[in-house]
Amino acid sequence: MRPSSPAEGEPDIDRMENHDGAVVPDGPTAANVSGPHPTKLSGAGCATGGSASPLDFGAMPTFRAPRGTRDLLPPERAAFRRLETIATDLTERYGYREIETPLLEQTAVFERGVGAVTDVVEKELFLIAPRTEEAESWALRPEPTAGIVRAYIQHGMQTLPQPVKLTMTGPMFRYDRPQAGRYRQFWQFDVEAIGDAGPAIDAEIIELALRFYGEAGLKRVEVHLNSIGDAACRPAYIEELTAYFRGHVDELPQLERDRLERNVLRLLDSKDPAMAALNAAAPRITDRLCGPCAEHFAAVKTHLDTLGIAHVAEPGLVRGLDYYTRTAFEFYAPGREGQQQALGGGGRYDGLVELLGGRPTPGIGFGVGLDRVVLALAAEDVATPPETRPLAVVVGADPAATADRLRIATDLRAAGLPVRAELTVRKLGKQLESAARDHAHFAVILGDELAGGQVQLRDLEAGSQQLVPLVDLARKLAAAAKSHRHGVGEG
Ligand code: HAM
Repeated sequence: MRPSSPAEGEPDIDRMENHDGAVVPDGPTAANVSGPHPTKLSGAGCATGGSASPLDFGAMPTFRAPRGTRDLLPPERAAFRRLETIATDLTERYGYREIETPLLEQTAVFERGVGAVTDVVEKELFLIAPRTEEAESWALRPEPTAGIVRAYIQHGMQTLPQPVKLTMTGPMFRYDRPQAGRYRQFWQFDVEAIGDAGPAIDAEIIELALRFYGEAGLKRVEVHLNSIGDAACRPAYIEELTAYFRGHVDELPQLERDRLERNVLRLLDSKDPAMAALNAAAPRITDRLCGPCAEHFAAVKTHLDTLGIAHVAEPGLVRGLDYYTRTAFEFYAPGREGQQQALGGGGRYDGLVELLGGRPTPGIGFGVGLDRVVLALAAEDVATPPETRPLAVVVGADPAATADRLRIATDLRAAGLPVRAELTVRKLGKQLESAARDHAHFAVILGDELAGGQVQLRDLEAGSQQLVPLVDLARKLAAAAKSHRHGVGEG
């Protein structure tokens, strides 16, 4: 796999590792790879004919997750799982159905859908090296909307009752410069309503996103709102904007100068700090909306007011993707607006279905950056969910009797109970210590009574213990799990 090469005049980000100010843990540094190598093993103890191993273990590199990607270890994965559960519950409540599209699409889906002259396609696409000369060009999805709309068209969803309301959560890939909250593989919770021209659904979808943040634990999330017009009013605005930037061409960074004639709107969402002042003084689309766009925008705001949703007017908000028309919005934690740290964003894309080969169909959606939500929750000290703990651990007085422990734990798990078997051969005391470390509620202790079909059931929290017939064990544990009682006296 190779990423598209950085645009001309752009520094090659792989050579900038030391200048990123990256919080993202990076590849090995000289300091952590220059230590002593492991003992060289070649030639030692090979079973087949005693010949030397072809592997030179002494030269084994230190493997790391690719730069800008990361492993979600169990506690962080649990935080993501919690967000996914909230997303699933919420979207079901609002009538969205889940869809899953491939992680890769024909590159043209993104070139046409997202736009060839956008950061996402021009600089950040992960292109897949073709396996044969005639192979199609594929790219890892940098965002889900283009793929979902491709699926909508491919599967004839225009014939279903409209709007078709779809949701998807999964990883996206952008070859961007890694830093805190910006990764090359990141997760989005995405929602799309295709086939409703609004404006009520625009407000509904914004409210849905806010409810997601609220249920996740982020109570203060701001909506930044704009309208970026449509095919009727945008061309005149683009002309005006082009004239404005032509007047400042000497102040433009090289990339923006290149884009000026090709896609001037993209200058407005440039990440280059040199553009900030110029963009602040640029003509505003909201002052140039045609009648229908202005009416639509006003109606969206009225619907938001009805729902009691405050919004910040953001006339410079044009979003980084070309498919947007009319309503555009982004979500921020207050105080983090200037740091390109949107917690999510979206908008209307009334021309996208047609652009990808379908009948003209309006659409609107949003994407929430789950990585950023997890970071924001940590910054606000919102507790992450406790990891699941076993209800019971099966331990035994005879350390060697692993088969008994495995068999009884297996029967309990078959009965639907979260139970761990202590499979290590070690003393009962150590087994019980390990059960306590797992925060298990109970220890099922196998001893001499097992011959008579009984086990000791110890409540590790209450410190009580009783003899229980094996035939009653699952029922007793299930009752305790159900009632969240820690005692074992009844049931
Ligand atoms: P987007 O604004 O490009 O929109 O991405 C949505 C969200 O994904 C961002 O607000 C941010 O939270 C997160 N995100 C984007 N890039 C990164 C990154 N490199 N690392 C971490 N998080 C990131 C879209 O993708 C549109 N498809 C949204 C949409 C859906 N519009 C209509 N329907």
